[in-house]
Amino acid sequence: MKTSEIRNQFFDFFTDKGHTYVRSAPLVPKDDPTLLFINAGMNQFKNIFLEKEKPKHLRVVNSQKCIRVSGKHNDLEEVGIDTFHHTFFEMLGNWSFGDYYKAEAIQWAWELFTEVWGLEKDRLWATVYKDDDEADELWKKVTNIAPDRVLRFGKKDNFWEMGDTGPCGPCSEIHYYVGENPSKQSADGINSSDQYWELWNLVFIQNNRLPDGTLEELPKKHVDTGAGLERIAAVLQGKTSNYDTDLFQSIIKVQEKKLGVKYKDDLVGHRAIADHVRMLSFSIADGVLPSNEGRGYVARRILRRAARFGHCMGREEPFLSSLVGTVVELMSEEFPELVEKQTHIEKVIEAEEIGFSETLDRGLEQFGNIVNDLSGKTISGKEAFKLYDTFGFPVDLTVQMAREKGLSVDIEGFDKAMGEQRTKARSEGKFNLDVSHKEWTTITKGDDSEFLGYNDLSSESTIRRYHCTNGTVLMILDQTPFYGEQGGQVGDTGSLTGDGFTIRVTNTVIDGDSHIHVGEYAEGDSINGETVTAQVDNVRRENIKKNHTATHLLHKALKKVLGDHVQQAGSLVHPDYLRFDLTHYQKITPEELRKIEAIINSEILKNTVLDIS
Ligand code: ALA
Repeated sequence: MKTSEIRNQFFDFFTDKGHTYVRSAPLVPKDDPTLLFINAGMNQFKNIFLEKEKPKHLRVVNSQKCIRVSGKHNDLEEVGIDTFHHTFFEMLGNWSFGDYYKAEAIQWAWELFTEVWGLEKDRLWATVYKDDDEADELWKKVTNIAPDRVLRFGKKDNFWEMGDTGPCGPCSEIHYYVGENPSKQSADGINSSDQYWELWNLVFIQNNRLPDGTLEELPKKHVDTGAGLERIAAVLQGKTSNYDTDLFQSIIKVQEKKLGVKYKDDLVGHRAIADHVRMLSFSIADGVLPSNEGRGYVARRILRRAARFGHCMGREEPFLSSLVGTVVELMSEEFPELVEKQTHIEKVIEAEEIGFSETLDRGLEQFGNIVNDLSGKTISGKEAFKLYDTFGFPVDLTVQMAREKGLSVDIEGFDKAMGEQRTKARSEGKFNLDVSHKEWTTITKGDDSEFLGYNDLSSESTIRRYHCTNGTVLMILDQTPFYGEQGGQVGDTGSLTGDGFTIRVTNTVIDGDSHIHVGEYAEGDSINGETVTAQVDNVRRENIKKNHTATHLLHKALKKVLGDHVQQAGSLVHPDYLRFDLTHYQKITPEELRKIEAIINSEILKNTVLDIS
């Protein structure tokens, strides 16, 4: 039976039991800063469990795209090495939102496995949470599993949590013995031997983990189940490796041709590449672009890992993008977004792989030198950092290569070197006026720096405090029309005029909540009185405003011409010019530039009134 049929049978089984099919949520979580990628089917239902949202249906079924390479659920190190972990996988699931509970969840899972899919009962095992007498009894009551095949485990194995916070609860798992000799089974193998695969996790969501670590009871009880489709396909297709199913073999066959190496001759490399190209196709389809941060860096790491495996098989040219078509063919029935984004996915992967290939050879040579010169068994953090910084080797790639040679990497040392570089970059990039450690002269007390600059360019202000040194004056006021340098927009300039003095303000910076006017005396040489007239250079501010608006127009035009994936990666808004850093996978062509320019100019000519409300 093909995997696509297995997926459909799962949907049919649960729709017959009153469930509504819903589409997989995109891999990039919407409005959930606790998650880098969707890592479980229940993520999209989190707010329903927490009673922040009402469910449209009380029972649903789906197949969720999941990525587990970061945070609490991280399987990357196993991928390729074993036969059943993946960076990207599909999780089949059925849910009850305050509707049915443990009895039905257990009974239906057993029915689907043993009656519909015909799995042998004497290869199946069930586990329950150590204190969950109810689930233990239900297994014996609502199924015909042999009682000695129901085992109890502790929190690590049978209490499921999505992350450090959020909905959670005790769970019951179904494990399957994949070994050759069923008479050799023993309860000791569950959760310890790779001969027993966890196939399905039934979570009884009844708690919420709070940020301080405590558990609160949820008002209702829910069911959240998750079964890895790739593992189920392996079992139902009589395979002992997920990579032997139709899902992976179709990709691996193309790899064998492109790379000229048989699967049997490099199991780890082929598995990793097939896994990684799926992860890349799906994540890029959902808007991720390889970059140096966050999700983008996860994609970059995975791509570089895959490219290195190809290189080890002797492949000099980029090849990963040529595998995308097969992934699309295999998966687009359930995930049509792949067809829509196919060209985009291929272009992104190709550009990124070409970029990496420029440093890959030299990086590998450098790695070889490090290994040759090594006296112990650990590559230093400094060396690993150099590979990262100069040759673009993500540290997990270095760890992987080290492991192949029986070596390890000093990760703490790597993190330290990385931290040092960040601090250095930050201090170089920052306005080099150390404002926080100055001795200030206080004139009046009270809140400071109420910002008036959205409506006014001048104000009568009270001096809160000031500092003078070597002709530079720093001044903080109770209220100010001066915009402080932030978010890529330069600070305002202008003047502060008081009793017998004028300060020419050459910049305004922000320290905490305070706007610090930085300048020098244009008239007088001392601060007298408590008040000043603060006046912003209005022509300059007007120009900054124009360039600020132009930044928004540019961003919109870029998305229109280059695609929705374009993100702002940084910008500088100055009175005379603007700079806009963006994420895109290739150089913008002159033709595209002309189009972008034309869109912006036509918007400017419309002279639309600005609505900043
Ligand atoms: N949410 C559960 C899991 O991911 C089903 O294992």
